[in-house]
Amino acid sequence: MSSVLRVEGLRTAIGDVEIVRGVGFAVAAGETLAVVGESGSGKSMTALSIAGLLPRGGRVVGGEVLLEGRDVLALPEARRRAVRGAEIGMIYQDPMTSLNPLTRVGAQVAEGLTAHGWTKVRARSRTLEVLAEVGLPSPAAIARLYPHQLSGGMRQRVLIAAAIAPRPKVLIADEPTTALDVTIQQQILDVVARLRDEYGLAVVWITHDLGVVARIADEVLVMYAGRAVERASVRPLFAAPAHPYTAGLLRSIPTPATVHRGALPQIGGIPAAPSGLPAGCPFAPRCPQRIGRCEHEEPPLTDRSPGHAACWVSPEHWAGEAR
Ligand SMILES: Nc1ncnc2c1ncn2[C@@H]1O[C@H](COP(=O)(O)OP(=O)(O)OP(=O)(O)O)[C@@H](O)[C@H]1O
Ligand SMILES: [Mg+2]
Repeated sequence: MSSVLRVEGLRTAIGDVEIVRGVGFAVAAGETLAVVGESGSGKSMTALSIAGLLPRGGRVVGGEVLLEGRDVLALPEARRRAVRGAEIGMIYQDPMTSLNPLTRVGAQVAEGLTAHGWTKVRARSRTLEVLAEVGLPSPAAIARLYPHQLSGGMRQRVLIAAAIAPRPKVLIADEPTTALDVTIQQQILDVVARLRDEYGLAVVWITHDLGVVARIADEVLVMYAGRAVERASVRPLFAAPAHPYTAGLLRSIPTPATVHRGALPQIGGIPAAPSGLPAGCPFAPRCPQRIGRCEHEEPPLTDRSPGHAACWVSPEHWAGEAR
């Protein structure tokens, strides 16, 4: 399997604090990697590091981001921006903050293209084409509207259109559906899945929602305190998690009776803060499986066939109803 996007040992700091502490994964064309984990685990910072869109004060301090084998971090700054802008599309949680309220949506999609060197004429026709591809009816009429004249779902479709318009190879979606109601959320997932298949996009989908993971992901990366604690294909991960944190997330999937969309899975204790990580495994204080070693030695991500997990205790030695 050749990967379109391969990330190795990615480390990102904001000021002196390491927020992303060695994350690695690979995504092939037409595949979806879901990134899950509680709030603050570093999902967005990982995405922004890859897309080169870190906030002020943030910088990548280690690792590689390989796009079809080329390390984009090693490219000169200007080239890096051009490559990433055209080859990595990104969509965010809140369509209102990513769209300019004063500009017609068609012009915004087209501007993204002209910024990447498209002529105005080509940008305009591509804009209408791509608005149709994301399932917006009468693209020419939609293109003339302002963001506030669209529903939340339509705005999200416009953002997807803008992201895929330059025909990127990678699409990173950072919780783009959490603000939408369930029906619209499903429609957006369907649109992205169709585009993934048609374009052969490598998709990275960040979410809190394990239901979404089950629907769209091929591979799953579970993050905790800036690291991947488990990485596996979706079926084995759901059937037999290899990290106690993943097991906790799965146990707390809402049932039809408790369904509360977008709710954070409840695991006892407080997530680790990046500025005050304990010496050992950051999950140890909350972990029902911890042993003495966990308190002073952080486990590396190791092979736990069929996936990988960062835990000193393998599932066959877990106590209680661990799974
Ligand atoms: N601009 C910033 N300056 C300093 N620290 C930040 C900044 N943005 C995020 N952080 C910190 O970086 C860590 C990782 O944040 P990140 O946004 O990647 O988490 P996340 O997994 O995306 O969470 P969420 O699910 O809430 O979106 C958090 O501890 C957060 O407090
Ligand atoms: Mg985030």
